[in-house]
Amino acid sequence: MQTITQKNIWDDLARRWNKLTPPLRPCDQDLDFMKQGLQSVAGQCLLLGVTPELCCLSDKLVAIDNNESMIRAVWQGNHNGKRVIKGDWLQLPFEENTFDAVIGDGSLTLLEYPLSYERLFREMKKVLKKGGKLLLRIFATPDEGETCSAVCREALEGKIRNIHVFKWRLAMALVSESGNPNVRVRDIYITFDRFFPDREDLARQTLWDPQNIADFEEYRDSSSIYSFPRLSDVRLKYQQHFREIGLRNGTYELAQRCPVLTLEASK
Ligand SMILES: C[S@@+](CC[C@H](N)C(=O)[O-])C[C@H]1O[C@@H](n2cnc3c(N)ncnc32)[C@H](O)[C@@H]1O
Repeated sequence: MQTITQKNIWDDLARRWNKLTPPLRPCDQDLDFMKQGLQSVAGQCLLLGVTPELCCLSDKLVAIDNNESMIRAVWQGNHNGKRVIKGDWLQLPFEENTFDAVIGDGSLTLLEYPLSYERLFREMKKVLKKGGKLLLRIFATPDEGETCSAVCREALEGKIRNIHVFKWRLAMALVSESGNPNVRVRDIYITFDRFFPDREDLARQTLWDPQNIADFEEYRDSSSIYSFPRLSDVRLKYQQHFREIGLRNGTYELAQRCPVLTLEASK
């Protein structure tokens, strides 16, 4: 799923990383859930991506990300027991039984369901020690899905405070309507544009920051695919390798669909 266009998305994101807010970034509640899950972990931790908030959760941490721009813009430097390497989560360059924990924020959404999920969970199981923890905040489409028109109507009624929440709800509505957990990023844009061709009017009605609305254009030429399977579909892919020991939700807008999942490697 790694394409030139996807790299461009991450290049753009790298530039305006600090402007992203939950649910696209983890908040304090998510970090508390992860800290609790890592309490008994003293050894090496692997971070999927370079999420700065997660980087602080361990003193012995290796981060792995396949985008040079994100590493350059977001990684805070190799020091105090932390280092980053450029590489693919689906082909990890580590020996078996290397890590005591793996953590990631929203990482699964960047992988295509189901094959890349299967591969990722296999890779995680391989590099984790027996009993090692896998903590992931995931974005899951609810069982009772909603329609794109319902999401857009709520936006105009001022019921969606955060445009990033809107983006994810629209993407999940596309997934619910199609029955396919994978959604083309370009289709999220096309649907947005179809419902809201007049951006100034949209900004007036929703009170969303016009710059954030304009940033939606980044989705227009993307050939990337995001995935938002239901929680039950995610479970199907890890249950062979992991035992679920926790599922916690924060209280921010959309938190119900963004749980922190804690798994234990069963060897
Ligand atoms: C961790 S994820 C999701 C965004 C998340 N909410 C965050 O806070 O960082 C973002 C990162 O994943 C990286 N990435 C996506 N797919 C990857 C893969 N297959 N292997 C390695 N890195 C990947 C991207 O380059 C990006 O820096």
